[in-house]
Amino acid sequence: MARKAVCCGLSSLELVLMVLFLLMTGIAVALITVLAINLNSPTEKPEEPIPSINPPKNPYLIGLGRADCTGPAADVPLMGYANLEQTAGGIHTRLFSRAFIVDDGSKRVVFVTAEIGMISQRLRLEVLKELELKYGDLYRQDNVILSGTHTHSGLAGYFQYTLFMITSKGYIKSSIQPIVNGIVKSIDLAHRNMRPGRIFINKGELLDNTRNRSPHSYLNNPEEERKRYKHDTDKQVVTLKFTDLDGDGVGMLSWFAVHSVSMHETNHMVSSDNLGYAAYLFEQDKNIGSLPGQGLFVAALASANSGDASPNTRGPYCINTGERCDYLNSSCPIGGREMCLAFGPGKDMFESTRILGENIYRKTKELYGSAEQELQGSIHAAHQWVNMTDVTVQLDSTHSGKTCKPALGHSFAAGTTDGGGALNFTQGSVEGDLFWDGIRDALVGVPSQETQDCHAPKPILFNTGEMNKPFPWHPAIVDVQMITIGSLALVAVPGEVTTMSGRRIREAVKQELEKQNAFTNPEVVVAGLCNVYTHYITTYEEYQVQRYEAASTIYGPHTLSAYIQHFRGLARAIAEGKVGELPKGPEPPFFSNLFSLLPEVPVDKSPGNTTFGQVIQQVDPLYKVGEVATVTFVAGNPRNSGDMRDKTFITVEKFHNSTSTWEVVHTDASWETRFYWIKGTANQSNATVEWHIPLSAESGAYRIRHFGHYKQRVIFPVITAYEGSSHTFRVTKTLYSL
Ligand SMILES: *[C@@H]1O[C@H](CO)[C@@H](O)[C@H](O)[C@H]1NC(C)=O
Ligand SMILES: *[C@@H]1O[C@H](CO)[C@@H](O)[C@H](O)[C@H]1NC(C)=O
Ligand SMILES: *[C@@H]1O[C@H](CO)[C@@H](O)[C@H](O)[C@H]1NC(C)=O
Ligand SMILES: *[C@@H]1O[C@H](CO)[C@@H](O)[C@H](O)[C@H]1NC(C)=O
Ligand SMILES: *[C@@H]1O[C@H](CO)[C@@H](O)[C@H](O)[C@H]1NC(C)=O
Ligand SMILES: *[C@@H]1O[C@H](CO)[C@@H](O)[C@H](O)[C@H]1NC(C)=O
Ligand SMILES: *[C@@H]1O[C@H](CO)[C@@H](O)[C@H](O)[C@H]1NC(C)=O
Repeated sequence: MARKAVCCGLSSLELVLMVLFLLMTGIAVALITVLAINLNSPTEKPEEPIPSINPPKNPYLIGLGRADCTGPAADVPLMGYANLEQTAGGIHTRLFSRAFIVDDGSKRVVFVTAEIGMISQRLRLEVLKELELKYGDLYRQDNVILSGTHTHSGLAGYFQYTLFMITSKGYIKSSIQPIVNGIVKSIDLAHRNMRPGRIFINKGELLDNTRNRSPHSYLNNPEEERKRYKHDTDKQVVTLKFTDLDGDGVGMLSWFAVHSVSMHETNHMVSSDNLGYAAYLFEQDKNIGSLPGQGLFVAALASANSGDASPNTRGPYCINTGERCDYLNSSCPIGGREMCLAFGPGKDMFESTRILGENIYRKTKELYGSAEQELQGSIHAAHQWVNMTDVTVQLDSTHSGKTCKPALGHSFAAGTTDGGGALNFTQGSVEGDLFWDGIRDALVGVPSQETQDCHAPKPILFNTGEMNKPFPWHPAIVDVQMITIGSLALVAVPGEVTTMSGRRIREAVKQELEKQNAFTNPEVVVAGLCNVYTHYITTYEEYQVQRYEAASTIYGPHTLSAYIQHFRGLARAIAEGKVGELPKGPEPPFFSNLFSLLPEVPVDKSPGNTTFGQVIQQVDPLYKVGEVATVTFVAGNPRNSGDMRDKTFITVEKFHNSTSTWEVVHTDASWETRFYWIKGTANQSNATVEWHIPLSAESGAYRIRHFGHYKQRVIFPVITAYEGSSHTFRVTKTLYSL
């Protein structure tokens, strides 16, 4: 994998390390966030059920937008499990960025949730540059929050710190560009849509859809704290309903704490996973007759404090023997930790994604339908850059703690029961391992005593804070940010917070806001995976257990306390009206000459007598609803097609007898279709399209088409468009009566 790295200024030691790293990782990167809410508006007590015909005296201006941000559907690694073998090969569902702008007449804030693994510092900086070019200082560092849903089936390649570049095959321009453009376009659309409207908030619980994947860590939290909560993952769903002044719904934004990883490491298709599917169902429900990704109603599901909240609800077991995994270290008697994986609730990952998506959709729809409490009052935004390697935390009146230079512990390489990890690392290790420590010492040097002491009891695997070649391996400067809309406070956390960490952040911020008279009973939502990725944030007590999440808490045991201290500071500044006095903090770097390890697209070859787009495996002449129509085409590499946002590689089309025309009923954004791009040998590849014919499909005549581009080299590369179509086939409601 690292073959080409030589060209990019890496030393051979780093190369070896990189290879080693690539071989052994399988991280389950994950997601975060938190949420919270409840509220009474600070100014008026909204009592009336909605839609009320009496709009507030000073309504907000509201703008919503959605845009495709799907990157190259081939070759690029998927971002999340850190498995370089898990490269993109087609599309299950497209990825969208959804933007929500709210303006109170004097201040404006933007919340964006994008269906990608997480927001990276590089991505945020590039988005903000674009916004500055277009809008001057209207959309800025302090009033724009970017959050990722944490799907592990989005594309990688949009990072500037070495660790993430390694698992991404470098910084990939063709991968980051569609994300930047998609996010900016969603904001453009929202900006153009701005009009007076209202926001209502509601909150409820969704049980049985998440399961704590490190219960042993959770149990290390103080008993009196745990007793205050019924569950070891947050079940709360917070929903915002956006309406126009007539009370007609125009959008929905919800937060729910679940790792968006129902799609496993074995999947290669781009997919928005469980949260994405919930948003998809909501939009399809409201935008009747529209193809996915089209229509005016914008519905979004954003990540929360989902650091330890797994969607694999059947829990972990040994996939070879069916036994239970070891409770403490998640390993199996035979085969060790690699054999211990969690699945469920469905029979396969598609069904699991569907079940979670449907459950989340149904809950948000119910909350949306009954939302009565109106957000009213002014808007605030506060932002700071913080050197997270250097925060002194006041723990109590006599004790202080310090954050550390970034480092990852041994259990980081163990991955989680949701996936990741390849060698013999196990979770919960507080002792190093002579074998791996020896390799590490030989390759990258012994971590300094200072870093080792600072991170204790974490045994350090990668002292990333002391690794700076060819670029720093981890960020030091991070964003802390908060916006408030009436009594709603959105806390943007730059990483994945565990359930209890999220609760502590919410509580601290609420307390701070309530200390001042500006807020009565504020609802605090922790939004995860925002602005810059820094792995996990566990509580101090969870940290002591050193499972995956703790090993990945990169600034040491006081990471959470440091964030709480800073979020308290932002809350105080907002409540006291002193946001302007907050120090801006040190600006993050913007590195140039980042390396890419993604090879250029090879020429495409069609086998034997075939041509591109030719069908090599035909559909059947007749299908019954509920069956799967399948067709295989001779294909070119999807990367040849360039930026495919708002386009499609496939269509399912229905024939209308009366007009003799074909109507597109599905695209590659549709849940019902699966576009598999399968790379073969000798530069040949196939596109297999499956249409999982829904029971609701009308009977009639259909065809499936595929669109692509192939590359040839004459002297210069030449890229040529092609298309292909299946035979016409019939779909019936029952097989024997047409
Ligand atoms: C996991 O813990 C069990 C005891 O609970 C132990 O027998 C086993 O060796 C451990 N496995 C690994 C790989 O550390
Ligand atoms: C962050 O803090 C560390 C420790 O004090 C310091 O060495 C480093 O220069 C700081 N980084 C920046 C960008 O300010
Ligand atoms: C991992 O494997 C190496 C080499 O086989 C061995 O020396 C080491 O003890 C193993 N570590 C664990 C935690 O099993
Ligand atoms: C495959 O493509 C590469 C790069 O374009 C080329 O060097 C190689 O000769 C091709 N292989 C075959 C079998 O066509
Ligand atoms: C290619 O086409 C020729 C003529 O149509 C035919 O004789 C031959 O069998 C075909 N070869 C393959 C591999 O299909
Ligand atoms: C469509 O029209 C053709 C000829 O006009 C007819 O034979 C066929 O039965 C029609 N199909 C349907 C589904 O109506
Ligand atoms: C493409 O499909 C054909 C027909 O199903 C099959 O024989 C061939 O092996 C496939 N090639 C690749 C690269 O998947």
